[in-house]
Amino acid sequence: MKEEVKEYIGQNKDRFVNELLDLLRIPSVSADPQYKNDVARAAEYVKGQLIAAGAEHVEVCKTDGHPIVYGDKLIDPKLPTVLVYGHYDVQPADPIDLWTSPPFEPVIKDEKIFARGSCDDKGQMYMHVKAFEFMMKNNSLPCNVKFMIEGEEEVGSVNLGIFVKANKEKLKSDVCLISDTSMLANDIPSITVGLRGLAYVEVELVGPNRDLHSGTYGGAVSNPINALCDMISSLIDPVTRKITIPGFYDDVEDISAEEKKAISEIPFDEVEYKRELGIKETRGEKGYSIIEQASTRPTLDVNGIKGGYIGEGAKTVLPSKASAKISMRLVPNQKSEKIAHLFAEHFKKITPPSMTVKVDFHHGGEPVVVPMDCIEYQAASMAYEDTFGKKPLPVRAGGSIPIVALFENELGVKSMMMGFGLDTDNIHSPNENFGIFNFLKGIETLPLFYKHYADLKKK
Ligand code: BES
Ligand code: MN
Ligand code: MN
Repeated sequence: MKEEVKEYIGQNKDRFVNELLDLLRIPSVSADPQYKNDVARAAEYVKGQLIAAGAEHVEVCKTDGHPIVYGDKLIDPKLPTVLVYGHYDVQPADPIDLWTSPPFEPVIKDEKIFARGSCDDKGQMYMHVKAFEFMMKNNSLPCNVKFMIEGEEEVGSVNLGIFVKANKEKLKSDVCLISDTSMLANDIPSITVGLRGLAYVEVELVGPNRDLHSGTYGGAVSNPINALCDMISSLIDPVTRKITIPGFYDDVEDISAEEKKAISEIPFDEVEYKRELGIKETRGEKGYSIIEQASTRPTLDVNGIKGGYIGEGAKTVLPSKASAKISMRLVPNQKSEKIAHLFAEHFKKITPPSMTVKVDFHHGGEPVVVPMDCIEYQAASMAYEDTFGKKPLPVRAGGSIPIVALFENELGVKSMMMGFGLDTDNIHSPNENFGIFNFLKGIETLPLFYKHYADLKKK
């Protein structure tokens, strides 16, 4: 199969790229209602491509939000079933003016495809469609396949959660296969063996009942923006960089000495890391390496802050209100709901009497770790060895895919996360891009997972 997939890619790569470019031209931004029809169009496009690749029972399933595309190819009930998960929705393109080319007019520069969603996750999801096409054309599909491609990953997958709970039989499978994470480098393949969870809150402080002249009242009346900044900065200890919310670390599982050692052996160039980001220093929790800080430890970050005058020039005003959006990345065994409540309780407690406070909860997600002593991992590892000529390293990702924990709890299936993007692909940021090498390497590697998985299952 190894040589055949290479040959097939060689003959079809221009078409593969062009089909992906067509999908990238559809601005399927799930967060913004303005794009509702485009999101629906992207779902139809995925449906059409699944049918063209040879999938059956392909349908666009309505939900209370954006639709889910389902399709399958069930060849033999005795063979294992792979559930492919991906998402066709994308993040908003803002800030638009920082893009060097329009986000929904994909261009190829330096062997990379630039467009919103090129890596996260249209490009990576599409690798699975093309890998499937190859196995169908080549008559070498060794497993049953079910595709479930959603349109609400970037807004919390709430309706997918409902869909999964309501369709357990339909989605019954042996393993879930996902490409929605990254690998270490183009010559250092890796398998994602963990994801962080997420608790997301929005806080609002209200001081005086209206905006005030900051000269007339300033000095006596407490300013909600100042108060909010004080409160937020008190949430992280200035020396240890630990989060100060009581109970926050109670359930945190420390990583094993073995994993700590494995992480310390991951090739990492701190100078290049800082240079590429344009920062002079990193600043994380004391006692942990940068890789640990960004993947195995919990965090608290302000994602956005609002209040007062932000127009041109200077306006003197003491605002009535201020608000902030705050995310906390969670690690095994923390629970999203518990952490959100601990946050709310603490935040209310530290609110000065001059302010009233409100804390709202947004969507969250639970952390996951994937075992390595299983045939699913072994099959993935062998696939990378076939196509990269070296064993992949296991790494935990710092990002979140909330639905993965739900697959485990509701469907009883583990997820193998075979990501082919790079951390520097600018996902969620202007100038998102995906290397053509990465796109094609994914298409080459995925069929080998199926092959090794089916072989190992037989034994
Ligand atoms: N594909 C990402 C998650 C990701 C990125 C995992 C990089 C590992 C490495 C996914 O589309 C995403 O952006 N998830 C959100 C969570 C969601 C609830 C909005 C995230 O991590 O912020
Ligand atoms: Mn994604
Ligand atoms: Mn994303």
